[in-house]
Amino acid sequence: MNLLELVESKLKHHPNRFKHILGVRERALELQAIYGGDIDAIETAAILHDMFKYDSIDAQTAWIKDLNEVEKYAKVPVAYHAIAAAYYAKNELHITDEKVFEAIYYHIWGKVGMNLETLIITVADFCEKNRTFHGAKTVYELSKTDLRKALILSLEYTIEYLNQDGLTPFYEQLEVLNYYKENPWNY
Ligand SMILES: [Fe+2]
Ligand SMILES: [Fe+2]
Repeated sequence: MNLLELVESKLKHHPNRFKHILGVRERALELQAIYGGDIDAIETAAILHDMFKYDSIDAQTAWIKDLNEVEKYAKVPVAYHAIAAAYYAKNELHITDEKVFEAIYYHIWGKVGMNLETLIITVADFCEKNRTFHGAKTVYELSKTDLRKALILSLEYTIEYLNQDGLTPFYEQLEVLNYYKENPWNY
């Protein structure tokens, strides 16, 4: 079974999520054609990034062996689906490329000092063609000319949505946003 079939079968009750994954893969490869980066790593990360999205928190955290990591993200349990998928890729699928691990692990808001592959997956996840929320189209248009600015805008939108819902952004989100606002991206 190839990776796409594996994920399609895992998400058989969530066809829209599988559609999103195909959208992220398409968008990420489009960005790769502009900015470069490892095609295989980008495609693999795109396919696997959300495979545990609908698993229970217990099932997600079962893939995370380091309890300090589980504790660290306890206030933002949405992070668990990403971390679980990164460990699954590494430990169960034996995908040893660290670029794949990082891109899956940090796909929600990126990481300070992230790889180009991670940046591409993070931006593609926000603005793939099936995304309907306000901002996705603007981020996509910007991503074609300035990937760093597209990341900044996507994080600002995400923080705005959180604030609207009365939620506080996680400190890492703010750290990533501030870092890339202040530092140029070295392509
Ligand atoms: Fe995700
Ligand atoms: Fe996603």
